[in-house]
Amino acid sequence: MNTKHTLITALLMLACGAASAGEVEVLHWWTSGGEARSVSLLKDKIQAQGNHWKDFAIAGGGGESAMTVLKTRAVSGNPPSAAQIKGHDIQEWGRLGFLTDLNDVASTDHWSQILPPVARQIMMYGDSYVAVPVNIHRVNWLWANPKVFAKVGVDVPTSLDEFFAAADKIQQAGYVPLAHGGQPWQNVTLFEAVALAVLGPEDYQRAFVELDMSVLGGDKMVAVFTQFRRMRDYVGASYRGRDWSTATAMVSSGEAAMQIMGDWAKGEFEADGKEPGQDYLCMAAPGTQGLFTYNIDSFAFFKLADAANSQAQKDLARAILDKEFQSSFNLSKGSIPIRMDMDLAEFDQCAKDSLVVFKQSSQSGGLVPSVSQGLATTSYVQAAIFDVVSNFFNAKTADPEQAVDRLARAVKSAM
Ligand code: GAL
Repeated sequence: MNTKHTLITALLMLACGAASAGEVEVLHWWTSGGEARSVSLLKDKIQAQGNHWKDFAIAGGGGESAMTVLKTRAVSGNPPSAAQIKGHDIQEWGRLGFLTDLNDVASTDHWSQILPPVARQIMMYGDSYVAVPVNIHRVNWLWANPKVFAKVGVDVPTSLDEFFAAADKIQQAGYVPLAHGGQPWQNVTLFEAVALAVLGPEDYQRAFVELDMSVLGGDKMVAVFTQFRRMRDYVGASYRGRDWSTATAMVSSGEAAMQIMGDWAKGEFEADGKEPGQDYLCMAAPGTQGLFTYNIDSFAFFKLADAANSQAQKDLARAILDKEFQSSFNLSKGSIPIRMDMDLAEFDQCAKDSLVVFKQSSQSGGLVPSVSQGLATTSYVQAAIFDVVSNFFNAKTADPEQAVDRLARAVKSAM
């Protein structure tokens, strides 16, 4: 938004006798280069409305630290206007009575017509919209540096077998095959990509959404852990605690060949001035072609006492789904718009592919929710999976059968 535009908007608001400006305090964890650039677009939009943006950023990919801080603030009776809350957590906050009803904005702006069914369901608590979706991130991506592949003389892998064969050669040539940060949510991002390849979408759904013990504790899950464990040999020595964006930078610079990560990684390549198809490639994670693990970012809206701030909160809800904002924000964030009535002509090939696979997989049953991003199951079950998967990945000697046993028991006690 340029200054002239901002000025015109402010004058228009004055002319229309708009209500006095309010403040929106927004909690989020968008602090990496690409993320910060994206969230500043929302801030600009809010300021252009004449409202005041109060930034409440808590660093940490996956949002674990942000959620801890949010709980303290909400319990002390001082919640922000909106907070980045996703998936099942929205229901948990709704049940506790913290969230406000956005149905008036939703009905004037036709949310039920423009949002895909999968998003509508997540954003509603009972019959009320209590949250607003921002985007659709695809999580099962493989990001690759084509120059590294050319130097080593191998093709970018499309199956798990090809992945391990290529990774051996890349390692021998002195590159890190797989850039990875050993934080629990990143370990599970890798794990769920392997699980989708090995299980297929039906059994993935049975295991992580329906929590069907015959799959969760069965032989196929032993195969998942066995393949997942093999990935450990290719992540290099100092992977523990590394931020996801640092891992992306390793691919960007050519220190590493690949990363398996959601398309917020594309936001980092973009912020780094890199060109898709030339400096980096976006491919489906090995063995998951045509399948789509979804992560939908959203803001849940809290009940507020102040009238001006409540009005500003509605302005924020409206701004998030504005077409122009959906376009600029998602171009920068690496995701695709959540509105299904938009043209992606100005987006890159990765985004166009993402939309095609999203639509096709919604019909074919290949659209599955991300475990690592809290879309598949409750935060309690998710925490149990994080624990078992991370302990297994980090252990010196790890036995897949024992891990499956632990997984089944941990999930059962968290249900
Ligand atoms: C996810 C979030 C994404 C991305 C990522 C890394 O939880 O949904 O938008 O920012 O964390 O911070």
